[in-house]
Amino acid sequence: MPLDPAELSKDVQHQPITRLGIVGSGTMGAGIAELCAVRGLDVRLMVSRESSLIGAPRRIAESLDRRVAKGKLDNGARDDALARIHVTTDLGELADRHLVVEAAREDGAVKREIFGALDKAVPPETILASTTSSLSIATLARAVSRPERVIGMHFFNPVSTLRLVEIVPALLSDEAICARVEQFATDVLDKTCVRTTDRSGFVVNALLIPYLLAAVRMVEEGVASPEQVDLAMELGCAHPMGPLRLADLIGLDVVAAIAGSLHEEFKQPHYAAPPSLLRLVETGWHGRKSGRGFYVYS
Ligand SMILES: NC(=O)c1ccc[n+]([C@@H]2O[C@H](COP(=O)([O-])OP(=O)(O)OC[C@H]3O[C@@H](n4cnc5c(N)ncnc54)[C@H](O)[C@@H]3O)[C@@H](O)[C@H]2O)c1
Repeated sequence: MPLDPAELSKDVQHQPITRLGIVGSGTMGAGIAELCAVRGLDVRLMVSRESSLIGAPRRIAESLDRRVAKGKLDNGARDDALARIHVTTDLGELADRHLVVEAAREDGAVKREIFGALDKAVPPETILASTTSSLSIATLARAVSRPERVIGMHFFNPVSTLRLVEIVPALLSDEAICARVEQFATDVLDKTCVRTTDRSGFVVNALLIPYLLAAVRMVEEGVASPEQVDLAMELGCAHPMGPLRLADLIGLDVVAAIAGSLHEEFKQPHYAAPPSLLRLVETGWHGRKSGRGFYVYS
């Protein structure tokens, strides 16, 4: 039964975070939904397209199945996790959430619009987080009437496997909110948090993206093939995955969008996306998720 508004307001403000909303069901939104459902949380996933009402749970189920096949999850836990995820196209269904994580595509205008809509759809006490890789949290906070309750919560892909979450307070963020989200990520999601300031790329992408772009330039200049560059970094530096394969995993559109934000913020040439990366993105070859990027995926 829905709580009355006063009860809901108290609950959202003071009770442990157990009801989670996620906006966007791409690589990250689906990954965060899966993680949270496996950790026992009640998850509502807001999708922008009708087709995702079926597509998103199917992709999450396939991911859970892979974990069952690897012996990391049993069938009961898989079924329970799936049952905890409710998918909707209606932002209004996020109205009773303690925390909403926005995971839509890396586009400032799209994200600001979502934050503006969330501001109207959920109570003022709800915490709003973004998993943006490179956009300013301050601009997202400006889109709502509760900027002190907006923070960056930057997960990594694959969400279930990678332990880090960057916690990004904006200048107006309330420290108690940041501490609450950090404790939630640590205690409930079993993540390790690193605090970073609100600047493009935070810590990881400010270091990682120039490296990925340098690898793309190397291929573009004919120094070595993608396979050879990846092999060199895997065997020479013990990286689990070379830079081109990693760019394909992140999503080439996401890499180009992050590079664009970094370049806009710092104006340094090593952040500029090389032409061959832009052509792949414009062609729709976005990496593993689209079946083709630097590599072809079956
Ligand atoms: N891919 C990564 O490795 C990675 C890692 C960490 C953080 N991020 C960040 O996470 C966010 C999502 O990235 P992704 O890789 O999941 O992208 P993606 O392209 O896989 O998915 C983006 C999703 O956003 C949805 N969307 C677009 N407009 C929307 C709207 N108005 N309302 C609701 N949903 C909408 C799309 O339908 C799509 O499902 C980005 O901010 C990105 O920078 C990505």
